[in-house]
Amino acid sequence: MARIQIPKIPWQEITPEEVFLNRRKFMKGAGLALGTAALAACSMPEMEEIASEGDTETAAQPEAASAELGTADELGDPLNTFEQITNYNNYYEFSTDKQAVARLAEGYPTSPWTVEIGGLVNNPGTYDVDDLKQMFDIEERIYRLRCVEAWSMVIPWMGFQLSDLLEVIEPTSDAKYVRMETILDMEGMPGQRNSSWYQWPYVEGLRIDEAMNPLAILATGLYGKDLLPQNGAPIRLVVPWKYGFKSVKSIVKLDLVAEQPTSLWMAAAGHEYGFYANVNPEVNHPRWSQATERRIGERGRRPTLMFNGYEEQVAYLYEGMDLVANY
Ligand code: MTE
Repeated sequence: MARIQIPKIPWQEITPEEVFLNRRKFMKGAGLALGTAALAACSMPEMEEIASEGDTETAAQPEAASAELGTADELGDPLNTFEQITNYNNYYEFSTDKQAVARLAEGYPTSPWTVEIGGLVNNPGTYDVDDLKQMFDIEERIYRLRCVEAWSMVIPWMGFQLSDLLEVIEPTSDAKYVRMETILDMEGMPGQRNSSWYQWPYVEGLRIDEAMNPLAILATGLYGKDLLPQNGAPIRLVVPWKYGFKSVKSIVKLDLVAEQPTSLWMAAAGHEYGFYANVNPEVNHPRWSQATERRIGERGRRPTLMFNGYEEQVAYLYEGMDLVANY
């Protein structure tokens, strides 16, 4: 992939310090778990077996995370282990077997990597991920990830707000949605090669006001380290109040568009997977209940929270909307 250089913009120029500090206050006030970006201070956790449904306790937490980074979400739920997060993955481009993804994705080349940004924006461009990491403030965001398959984890992502990027690229007034695309690589990705049933590449989208919500981030790391291929290296979306399939991995293209994008899952089974995909314990998937979930590493099931527990931060986006029809 060609490496196209763009001038570095220090984040202070984009987000004045005052605004940045206020934003962190807002996030703290909103009860969200924030960590610092002291990456070098972190080392990796011990390797452990992935905790299975039968485990009695959440697996031990990595010691290294305690010094500088958070160890629990704002509800007090402990982080899933690095081992769990990197060995139980949905990444259909590699495999539909969650425990095979890490092995199949090992060594997948994710650097250099560029993201082509365009559509209805004033400042289109091709951005190197290393440059994006310099341009924006990388912070830790501890979020619950709730998969539509009714399992969940607590993950300490590192990333920057999607809204910060949107402010730089300046959507025009016609832009209504953000459309994101994963890399198309039949040769390197066995799942793409072997399953013509899906309309590759993986596409996802957000309404522009959803994308501007401070919770929506582009993640470049977790547990204080760069993302591994199985988690969507080098850059992926994380929208914690929506089912995990909205959080598209390994993004190569981001466009502002006027029409609602058709996601890979809408194209594959639109009656099961809608555009909004907000976590909602009261709206069941046609084939299973969404009322409860299995936290990886825990015994039994726990109730699923409306908007995955982020109702206070995101409910305003859907005021007056029929959440059953707009599933
Ligand atoms: N992105 C791409 N490109 N391909 C995928 O198969 N799976 C989604 C989402 N993003 C997927 C994807 C689903 S269903 C989930 S639950 C999350 O990624 C899982 O993210 P994780 O493996 O990092 O936990």
